[in-house]
Amino acid sequence: MKRMLSGIKPTGRVTLGNYIGAIKPFVSFQDDYEMIIFIANLHSMTIYQEPKVLRQNTKDLIALYLAAGLDPERVTLFLQSDVMEHAQLGWYLGCMVTMGELSRMTQYKDKAAKSKKNEGIGAGIFNYPSLMNADILLYDPDYVPVGEDQKQHVELARDIADRFNKRYSDTFKLPEPLIPRVGGRVMDLQDPTRKMSKSDDTSKGCIYILDPINVSKKKIMSAKTDSGSEIYFDPENKPGISNLLEIYSILSGKTIKELEEQYKGMGYGAFKKDLAEVLGAELQKIQDRYNELMSGHVIDDILNEGAQKAQRMARKKLAKVERKIGITIKK
Ligand code: AMP
Ligand code: TRP
Repeated sequence: MKRMLSGIKPTGRVTLGNYIGAIKPFVSFQDDYEMIIFIANLHSMTIYQEPKVLRQNTKDLIALYLAAGLDPERVTLFLQSDVMEHAQLGWYLGCMVTMGELSRMTQYKDKAAKSKKNEGIGAGIFNYPSLMNADILLYDPDYVPVGEDQKQHVELARDIADRFNKRYSDTFKLPEPLIPRVGGRVMDLQDPTRKMSKSDDTSKGCIYILDPINVSKKKIMSAKTDSGSEIYFDPENKPGISNLLEIYSILSGKTIKELEEQYKGMGYGAFKKDLAEVLGAELQKIQDRYNELMSGHVIDDILNEGAQKAQRMARKKLAKVERKIGITIKK
């Protein structure tokens, strides 16, 4: 079985975009891959996090993955901070990457360009690709599923792995980024030309998985639609309805064609009402399981077990690295 690894930052409340674009696909990957998933809490520190909020977001994220169907028996699920080897290997790899390479990372360049002159940005934003390289290379994954914005970091991990293998000897597997199919992009309900995002100030266009169900339904009902009244898929001219069709299709398992057929001659109102019901039912299911998980110690137990499994793999790899680079002096 091929191995797949990914990390998710516990920043912000989990949105319908995260659910459709990341959580659901991961849950379906577990049937075909050996999955390693961790909550990238060390990465979240690159931007100040209110401690109380970080704690809550971290717990919520884990509970939502489990509530969505991630099976801890099959998937190694853990907190990055529970496995020290990430930070340690991150240091070694940070010594092998050049300032030039890190400066060329688009995400860093964007953030640097946006920061006001005197404010500066934390060094963590500059350095974090090294930590991400360590996250990946510790576990020899075949694939790393990431959004388009993270592809460059996975490619850097490949370059650094290759550099290490050539300088010392074969140690790391070269990972491949796996970009989800086009269409896995949920748009803002009020401005369907923008991605639905948790960093939005206006929350009307963004559905949060843990929002009260009636609030989410209302957001669907008041989603911006396009001129005309017909329901068909045309992202260019009908971005609002097309976005709703995509959401509906993913949640119901029906194809967009089937939905177009089903709603032929019907108005936006009836369509939205049905979608609101389908979404409401799915969210209710998740929230029920979430509440169950949050009320006991299950999450702590799952994380402990996940950390132990991950530590076993990570320690072996780090020991190998430290022998090769000359850090270990014991025979
Ligand atoms: P973020 O919330 O931006 O840190 O993203 C976490 C994960 O959720 C990434 O894998 C994204 O690709 C995915 N994601 C976030 N927003 C959306 C969206 N609007 N549509 C699809 N996927 C999304
Ligand atoms: N940097 C990624 C993000 O911002 C999260 C992440 C951290 C990650 N380590 C990783 C993703 C390793 C894949 C593999 O979304």
